[in-house]
Amino acid sequence: MPKTIHEQVTSYLTDIHSIEVQALAQMRRAPEIAGDDRLAAIFREHEKETEGHEQRIRERLEELDTKPSLLKDMLGKVTGGAFVLFARSQPDTPGKLVAHAFSYEHMELAAYELLIRVAERAGDAPTVEVARRIRAEEQRMGERLAEHFDVAVDASLREVSPQDLGEQVNKYLADAHAIEKQSIELLSKAQKIAGDPQLQEVYRDHLEESRNHQRLIEERLRERGGKPTALKDAAMRLGALNWGMFFQSQPDTPAKLAGFAYAFEHLEIASYDLLGRVAKRDGDRETSTLAGHIGEEERTAAARIAGGFDAAVEASLRDLGVTAGAR
Ligand SMILES: [Fe+2]
Ligand SMILES: [Fe+2]
Ligand SMILES: [Fe+2]
Repeated sequence: MPKTIHEQVTSYLTDIHSIEVQALAQMRRAPEIAGDDRLAAIFREHEKETEGHEQRIRERLEELDTKPSLLKDMLGKVTGGAFVLFARSQPDTPGKLVAHAFSYEHMELAAYELLIRVAERAGDAPTVEVARRIRAEEQRMGERLAEHFDVAVDASLREVSPQDLGEQVNKYLADAHAIEKQSIELLSKAQKIAGDPQLQEVYRDHLEESRNHQRLIEERLRERGGKPTALKDAAMRLGALNWGMFFQSQPDTPAKLAGFAYAFEHLEIASYDLLGRVAKRDGDRETSTLAGHIGEEERTAAARIAGGFDAAVEASLRDLGVTAGAR
């Protein structure tokens, strides 16, 4: 593990470079799955931006005088662990694509937030500057995606006949249930690697909430007369997305955990937003109200995790024995 704060900056930049390379692959594939020209267009636009991110991060690594042989080795190797597995999952519908992409943009956003903090500690102004500029573009892409949730629902439901809409609501409910199950696992593990009492409390509180969400979703599915096998099917769909592998590879530092948890909350935010919209189209007010209520708690959890980014960076540097600012 790199021990100086400057080596940490290089290490964060290397992970981010990997994340951007994976993002590029996603942006190139996304328009085919988007199912709508407007949606495809925002992915193409962000593909260009992402090319710029990859280039600027690579240049920054070169400017930091990373040895060419080492650089080549790092760039060729996939770093970033869980982040990269996440990028490799394969959404199959416009709705899932948008939820996944929304989450991924927030993972990038978190990665830049963390890089900014480490680079600030290192007194590395050019890296801070590059990271701030890219962060703004990731944030904007996240917003653009959120503005297109309705378009994504339209595209996903285009082939669905009105009498099958109810079955779709059940499917979205079952998917939400499977996601909550993963959330519970993640948050249980998070207790041990939180690295900071404030963040640990956030994870603990949200673990309680997630258990409650899972129960409420299951109840709702039962009330709607969903098939008993629906939950199992959803767990399998989630596995097929490669998210299973992603969850098994644990983030290894408090900072990576916080970034990962933040991204995960955004997967849930998008999922509940989509569920609410599909339920509304089916005239199921109770489900859309429930989705709105849970979605709010996911947003609050995400904001609380972001509030812990400083503490997460502190804890990570402390764990690694990095001395602040020392070259
Ligand atoms: Fe990016
Ligand atoms: Fe991005
Ligand atoms: Fe959550």
